[in-house]
Amino acid sequence: MSGYQLAEDVSLAGRNTFRVPARTAMMADVSRADALAGLFEFARLREGPVLVLGEGSNLLFAGDFPGMAICLTMAGVRIVQEDADSALVRAEAGLNWNDLVAWTLARGLVGLENMALIPGTVGAAPIQNIGAYGVEVGEFIETVEAFQRDTGQLKQLAREDCALGYRDSLFKRESERWVVTAVELRLPRRRELRLDYAGVKEELAAMGVDAPRASQVAEAISRIRTRKLPNPAVLGNAGSFFKNPVVDAAVAEAMKARHSTLPVFPGGDGQRKLSAAWLIEACGWKGFREGDAGVAAQHALVLVNHGQATGAQLLGLARRIAASVHERFGIVLEPEPRIIGARFDEPAA
Ligand code: FAD
Ligand code: EPU
Repeated sequence: MSGYQLAEDVSLAGRNTFRVPARTAMMADVSRADALAGLFEFARLREGPVLVLGEGSNLLFAGDFPGMAICLTMAGVRIVQEDADSALVRAEAGLNWNDLVAWTLARGLVGLENMALIPGTVGAAPIQNIGAYGVEVGEFIETVEAFQRDTGQLKQLAREDCALGYRDSLFKRESERWVVTAVELRLPRRRELRLDYAGVKEELAAMGVDAPRASQVAEAISRIRTRKLPNPAVLGNAGSFFKNPVVDAAVAEAMKARHSTLPVFPGGDGQRKLSAAWLIEACGWKGFREGDAGVAAQHALVLVNHGQATGAQLLGLARRIAASVHERFGIVLEPEPRIIGARFDEPAA
């Protein structure tokens, strides 16, 4: 058994949450990590580019993909070691992230509750160090197992070697080099719940909960997310289209002096994060629509496909939004999703 299955000229329309049309020249469904070495020998023969595809919830296809898309289907999860205080959970790349959150909470392991309902796979979680409501997955990562293309071997990377940052990692910076095959998370049995993010305590109160368990925090966050973000199954989107810009404290203070309602968050290393949603809304884009490409009515940071928009149209809109924010505020917005088939800062010919 090779551990992978190949198909040619495959539609990706159902495999990206923007639901834009795109095709890949080749698709490989891989069911075992140890099949990757053989597959990459084959891919090298074809000399095309390679794209690891999870659930497609952080991608924008600006056109067709001329190489091989790789989809990892192994989705096992187990406790590999445990003691009275914590457990080490190993989850394979193809597992759905929210299924892992539910699996850990059901076993009395805490930590992932604030990241409930983030779409996508476990394998993609370290790529941009997913985070929500004050918690990032990097806090819990002990090891990332990844296939390294240039050596052809599986490698165990400790958290310190993964260069995890805000929506950033080694794997994101070197996307041609790594295929994440499994993640090991160290999860405590007890820890203080993080309820400080705006709206969380209020939601728990609305649920009638005053001494919450982790599973109730997950429920509260799922309710907030369902209200605040469009459901990709109904309206194509990839969550936040731009990262919140991280600026020096002095820049943030100057912005705040001029725009008192601008939300400013700690950014680490004496820096500050500005709310990209606020900047975009201030430029008048919230609820904007041109053809089927638009900005969500309920959240200015979310670009949406009302039906027949192409990736190129959504990319064009995103560039116009970033240009207007730059012109009005002098702040550079960077896209969060990976753009396939174009560069964000290079207008198409
Ligand atoms: P894909 O979109 O398929 O891939 C994303 C990137 O990761 C690509 O570059 C891909 O090549 C790479 N990749 C995927 N799997 C692997 C792998 N195994 N090995 C190597 N590279 C890989 N993100 C947050 O951080 N916080 C949020 O709160 C959040 N909310 C969202 C809400 C909505 C409605 C949506 C649609 C998206 C949201 N996102 C959020 C973004 C998205 O959920 C995450 O980035 C998620 O981790 C993407 O998973 P995926 O499997 O869909 O990855
Ligand atoms: N806001 C506006 N206009 C809007 C929406 C929000 O001004 O249309 C302001 C609000 O005042 C709010 C602030 O922006 O105080 C922050 O909004 P929100 O809590 O929705 O968070 P966000 O900064 O827009 C980030 C992440 C989300 C994550 C949430 C919760 C980024 C790029 N986005 O959004 O992640 O779910 O915080 O932690 O960091 C994603 O990455 O795809 C994603 C959805």
